[in-house]
Amino acid sequence: MNWLDKFHHWRRRRRWNKQYRKGRWKSLQSEREATRYLQIVDFFRKYGKYNPSILDIGCGDGVLNRRMTDFEFHHFTGVDFSSESIRQAQAMDYPKAEFVTADAIEYQPEQSYDIIIFNEAFYYIPDSKKPAVMDRMLAHLNPDGLLIVSIFREGVGCWEYFKEEPRLAELDFVTVTTDKETTYWKIGAYRLK
Ligand SMILES: C[S@@+](CC[C@H](N)C(=O)[O-])C[C@H]1O[C@@H](n2cnc3c(N)ncnc32)[C@H](O)[C@@H]1O
Repeated sequence: MNWLDKFHHWRRRRRWNKQYRKGRWKSLQSEREATRYLQIVDFFRKYGKYNPSILDIGCGDGVLNRRMTDFEFHHFTGVDFSSESIRQAQAMDYPKAEFVTADAIEYQPEQSYDIIIFNEAFYYIPDSKKPAVMDRMLAHLNPDGLLIVSIFREGVGCWEYFKEEPRLAELDFVTVTTDKETTYWKIGAYRLK
């Protein structure tokens, strides 16, 4: 990234911190949003291995963890570049979960995972960094591992990274709708070929 992109990236991170501090993202805990998290957990059950390790990139304050209380997993790592969201996630003391403040564009996982998730986070990664982030994540996905991606509405400029990625096979792809016409998500499940 050139210095201008770096500056904008730094400003975006500051904005996320401020918004988490003000409670702007508590809206993700609503029942309308729940359908998205529950679809993701459904994909874990359907396509994931038993008792998986999970990496959630752009995990926010850990809303997914709220929605997987009865799902068996052996380890969960949540990564977000907002230190405030990570502080809030850590304060929840979710069992078997660790939360790390790190920027996805440079984050190096310390282990491989059975499930990697981009839950409403991939589109925030600058375009010039998306291919490298994909390479790094796919390199840390176990054989038979599952990649799950959720993107609000159409996801212009994002789905090609998954649908046209020769290393991935699509297992499922659904549109999760809500009572509000303009609020919907597309969620894909992928496996390494
Ligand atoms: C819409 S929120 C979704 C949070 C969470 N995945 C959920 O669905 O509850 C997007 C999250 O992506 C994080 N994010 C954006 N760019 C990031 C980056 N480069 N590295 C890590 N996290 C990032 C933001 O801080 C924010 O928490």
